[in-house]
Amino acid sequence: PKIIYNHADGTHDVVDAPAGTSVMRAAVTGGVAGIVGECGGQAMCATCHVYVRPERLAGLPAVSEDEDEMLDCAAAGRDSERSRLGCQLFAGEAFDEIEVDVPESQS
Ligand code: FES
Repeated sequence: PKIIYNHADGTHDVVDAPAGTSVMRAAVTGGVAGIVGECGGQAMCATCHVYVRPERLAGLPAVSEDEDEMLDCAAAGRDSERSRLGCQLFAGEAFDEIEVDVPESQS
């Protein structure tokens, strides 16, 4: 599955992620700037916060209670529609192709 990460400076990274890999893990492994993943994917840090592009929202799994609480703590403001934790979106399960905007800062 393909993940496109758009950065605030207008550049982007494209990662071909193996199925089962999260948007957070694929970024950290692939050297994509701006996604930290401090808690290792436990939905406990919000440093993997991304804004999903509106046209890519359809079909994503619902936000869990844990994710919902963490998103309220994200350093960059939460967007009620587009904000997700990258560690909770898994390639091949939540999407086959996704495009996200990476916040300018995660802290
Ligand atoms: Fe910590 Fe996603 S990596 S909440």
